[in-house]
Amino acid sequence: MTDFISKELQNLSETDLKRNLREFIPDGSALRGTIDGRRVVNFSSNSYLGLDSHPALKKAAITALEKWPVGASASRLITGTGPWVRELEEKTAAWKKREAALYFGSGYLANIGIITALADRDTDLFLDRFNHASIVDGAILSRARLHRYAHNDTKEIERLLARSTAARKIVVTDTIFSMDGDIAPMPEIVDLCERYGALLVVDEAHASGVFGKSGAGIMELYGLTGKAFLEMGTFSKALGVSGAYVAGDRKTIEYLVNRARSFIYTTATPPMVCAACASALDIVSSPEGEDLRERLRNHRSALRAIVPTAMTQIIPIIVGDTDATVRRSEDLRDKGLLVMPIRPPTVPQGTARLRISLSAGHSPEEVAMLCALLRSFS
Ligand SMILES: Cc1ncc(COP(=O)(O)O)c(C=O)c1O
Repeated sequence: MTDFISKELQNLSETDLKRNLREFIPDGSALRGTIDGRRVVNFSSNSYLGLDSHPALKKAAITALEKWPVGASASRLITGTGPWVRELEEKTAAWKKREAALYFGSGYLANIGIITALADRDTDLFLDRFNHASIVDGAILSRARLHRYAHNDTKEIERLLARSTAARKIVVTDTIFSMDGDIAPMPEIVDLCERYGALLVVDEAHASGVFGKSGAGIMELYGLTGKAFLEMGTFSKALGVSGAYVAGDRKTIEYLVNRARSFIYTTATPPMVCAACASALDIVSSPEGEDLRERLRNHRSALRAIVPTAMTQIIPIIVGDTDATVRRSEDLRDKGLLVMPIRPPTVPQGTARLRISLSAGHSPEEVAMLCALLRSFS
C-alpha cells in the first residue's frame, strides 16, 4: 500500500528535489543562528525589517499573555473575538485606509478563504502564473474557471478579460512575487480591471511593511490606495509575527465573516500574537518604520552592484540546474551565510535559484560579506 510513498521519496532524492526539515536555532533573532552545527547569518528569512525580535513586540506579547488567556479557546464566531483582535483589525483598517479589515490565522488561510468566498463555478478567475501557491489552491478549491496568464503580461490579461463573458470576473495578483522579487504592473492592472469590470484582489504579503510611505504596500507606493476590491497581506513577514489581514469595504468584510470557511472553521489566534501584530503595525507606520525601510533600501543598493535588476528586498540568483543550486547554497553556508536553494515545483523547471532576502536587521558588514561571496561566484 505504501509502495508509492517509497517510490516517490526515492524519485525526489534522485532528482535533488527531496526536502528535509533542518533544525535552525536562532540567536535571539531570525537573522542569525546555527544550522547543522554552523553559525550563519540568515539571508533566507522574510523578516524584512528585523521586527521578529523587536523588544516592543515582545513586550506587547508578554503584556497580553499576562492579561489574557494563552489560547483563544474557540473560533471567532463562537467566543474567540476578544478586544485584542478588534483593536488589531481597527488599526489595520486605518493603516490601509480602508473601511474594515479582518484577521486570518495565516496568509495561506486568508487567500483560500477570500478566493473561495468570492468565486464560484460561474466565475472567471485570472491569475498570474507566478502567483503564490495559496492563491492557486484557493482558486482550485473555488471551482471557478481558471485562466493563468504569463507573468506580469498585461496584454494577455487584457485578451483574456475581453474574451470573458462571465458575470463575475476576478483578477488576483501578488504585488511582489515571492520567488522573483519583482513588482506587478499595478497601475495597468487596476486600469484593466476598471475597464473590463473585473474585481481586483491583491496579495501584499511581501510588500506590507516594506513599501509605501506608511509601509502599507505597493498600492500605497503607486498612489493606488483603495483601488483594489480587496487587499490582503501578512503579519508573518516584514511585520515579524504571524497571521494575515484582508482589508476592504465594510460590507465585503462582513460577507467574508459569513462565507470564508478558513476564517469560520478554525480556532481564533492567541491574544499575545494579535498584540504583537498590533505593536508591529505601530512601528511600521511610525518614523522608526521609515528608518528601517531606509536601511533596507541601502542594503538593496549595495546588492545592485552584483544584481543590477534587483527591484525589492527579494533577490533571486537563477542558477538553473537544481544540483548546482544546492551546491552553491551549501558552499555559502560553509562560509557562514544561509541562502536557501529554491527548487521546482516552487519555481518552474530549469529555474532553480538562490533566493536572497535582505533585512533591515542585517548589518552593512553582513551585506558586504554577502556581496563579496556572490562576486567570487561570477
Ligand atoms: C505571496 C504570498 N502570499 C501568501 C503567503 C502565505 O502567507 P503565510 O506564510 O502567512 O501563510 C506567502 C508566503 O508564505 C506569500 O509569499
